[in-house]
Amino acid sequence: MHALTKHGLAVLVAGMGMGGAALAQKAEVVHWWTSGGESAAVQELAAAYKAAGGAWVDTAISGGENARNTTINRIAGGNAPTVAQFNTSLQYHEVVLEGMLNNMDAVAKEGNWDKILPEPIKKFVKVDGHYFAMPVNIHNPSWFWYSKAVLAKAGVKAEPQNMSEFFAALDKIKASGAIPLALGGQAWQEGILFNAILHTSGGADLYKQFYSSTDGKVAQSPAFKKVLSDFKRLKAYVDPGSPNRDWNVATAMLISNKAGFQVMGDWAKGEFAVAKQTAGKDFGCFPGWGAKAPYMLEGDVFVFPKSKDPEVIKAQQLFARVATSPAVQVAFNTKKGSIPIRTDVDMGALDICSQQGVTALKDPARHLPAPTQLASPEKKGLLDDAVTKFWNTDQSVDDVAKVLAAALKG
Ligand code: BGC
Repeated sequence: MHALTKHGLAVLVAGMGMGGAALAQKAEVVHWWTSGGESAAVQELAAAYKAAGGAWVDTAISGGENARNTTINRIAGGNAPTVAQFNTSLQYHEVVLEGMLNNMDAVAKEGNWDKILPEPIKKFVKVDGHYFAMPVNIHNPSWFWYSKAVLAKAGVKAEPQNMSEFFAALDKIKASGAIPLALGGQAWQEGILFNAILHTSGGADLYKQFYSSTDGKVAQSPAFKKVLSDFKRLKAYVDPGSPNRDWNVATAMLISNKAGFQVMGDWAKGEFAVAKQTAGKDFGCFPGWGAKAPYMLEGDVFVFPKSKDPEVIKAQQLFARVATSPAVQVAFNTKKGSIPIRTDVDMGALDICSQQGVTALKDPARHLPAPTQLASPEKKGLLDDAVTKFWNTDQSVDDVAKVLAAALKG
């Protein structure tokens, strides 16, 4: 008791006054939600955690890769955060196999996660029968967004239904004086664009063949080379300001009607929301060509670095309980642009983009795993490097096809 500071003592006394309630459960949370829409969403989690008696220590780190590497290094260095964001990715599975995480089985049992989580999410998050993470949302990283005003002014009357209609729309936007395609020139964003073209221009089967290939032959096929040239053809529609641009700055180009299209995950919707723009009125969205387009599924999870300290475990469990609760799921996902991980919550009036997402979620034939779920972080790194080099230099299609084939062989 004498070790307590004056402040600590005050907290303890206040806690005892509340019928013996414990000290605030302190959680340091590492995440990479730094844009306007993302910050608004994470604040919902923080507010709910505080309202439940917790103390939230926010560690926002710009860039997913940076944030995840920081967490891994801090765990390895014995200075782990309480909670940390990952994607539903093979990298998460690697961290599980390294034995770095506490499981959330107790909270999962009490919250009936087995029943309420959608099948593809549950299948990915549960490893060897244990919940080593708490899923918080479902994102599709592969949407096409567009400014309705820019397309109308350019005379684009309908959403493209195939690659040549997409190019025709881009040509019209260019002729109208606007920037046809807003792209953030960072490797992961160029990767998002490439994967979207792979499953829209090439088709879901080619996409799956590519990511499951271990001999690399598919990368040398004429169908795949066509994808590569379609992808590179898009360069002519991107403005010179693209290199290093953040994804939300690219979304802002649609919001301000400077650019026509952006290919990005549905977290972009959080930016439209902050700007008070409405789906179907100010901006449009489609996940691919037509009503039955493949729908890529990914999401964010929170992991709980290993600790035996009962106070840390209590904070981790409180976090998982709060962030999966129905009200928090609705508040958070509305701001984040994602779909809740509970099948039993009512999001109220869904906007036209979420309606498409929810419809697709119910149709397993349309589901496409994200690249992070199909390629190890090492392989994904090699593939991303090859795509970025191809996009940013005058490397030929034949050359990059060889490099990609070698990367697939591993
Ligand atoms: C995450 C999203 C996030 C986006 C951009 C993705 O990896 O799943 O939650 O908004 O990165 O920061």
